Amino acid sequence: MELHRLTQHCYYSDPIQEGDQPVMGLIAGACETLAVDTGNGPGRGLWLLQQAEKLGLPPVRWVVLTHWHWDHIMGGRAMQEAGVSLLCTQGTRRQLEVLSEYKWDNASLAQRVAEGLEIPFCQEAIQVEYPNEPRSLDPPLPDIALEGPLSIDLEGVTVRLFPQPCDHSMDGLLVHCPEDKVVFLGDSLYLNMYQSPWHYTQEKLFPLLDTLEGMKADWYLPAHHDKPMTGEAFLEFSQEQRRYSQAAGRDVTMKAALERLREKLGREPGEEEQEGLRAFILGNIVKGR
Ligand SMILES: [Fe+2]
Repeated sequence: MELHRLTQHCYYSDPIQEGDQPVMGLIAGACETLAVDTGNGPGRGLWLLQQAEKLGLPPVRWVVLTHWHWDHIMGGRAMQEAGVSLLCTQGTRRQLEVLSEYKWDNASLAQRVAEGLEIPFCQEAIQVEYPNEPRSLDPPLPDIALEGPLSIDLEGVTVRLFPQPCDHSMDGLLVHCPEDKVVFLGDSLYLNMYQSPWHYTQEKLFPLLDTLEGMKADWYLPAHHDKPMTGEAFLEFSQEQRRYSQAAGRDVTMKAALERLREKLGREPGEEEQEGLRAFILGNIVKGR
């Protein structure tokens, strides 16, 4: 895992697919630094703090959680113990309170999966990242839970925090650095994985895309993409998703939707495009239940 400088004030770490370690970020002002997400365990959060120090950045004073999922929050407590204040949305705070009562051994994970409180995807990733029991996982509670959007002046650079419900999680928080034209997206662009089958809905995705397009950023960082997306690549993604959603309409079957997509594209949709369309059809099925 390495930390990369993206712009004058913004840095990001590599994600690691195995164990589901997400991208973490740093936004460094003149006197203090803000971190984005804490990683999938105490070692990751502390690593980020060490990197900031190694680069000679101002002390990390804040860490912002993009949402409540385990891989983004489990480094939080170690960072707090190192003197960093943890910020998140009210929705994230509520979910962290839920997580604070959980145990993280194999039997407890299996029970939560059976009850529908956890998904096999996360169960597997936790077991890959922490093969041995007992696991030193201890979810943090925030120092500050946001009531709405918040601007933080880091001296020389601003961070804007936007609560934004999305398919992936209702407690999503976007971290925007307007001077550097960078947005840390967390997992907001990804599918709803907690209601099976995995899907998108137009009702949640379109407002998110509107907000993100309105930011007119040069860089968008989805937390499990290998590389940041350029503004251009993000717009392309956004237009693709809108096309799939419009082709899907309210249909719960593929046939007519596929025909509409064929018309829009003027050719036969490829396999990936059919999968893209299917995510919205599945969303319609889930909504109708
Ligand atoms: Fe997530």
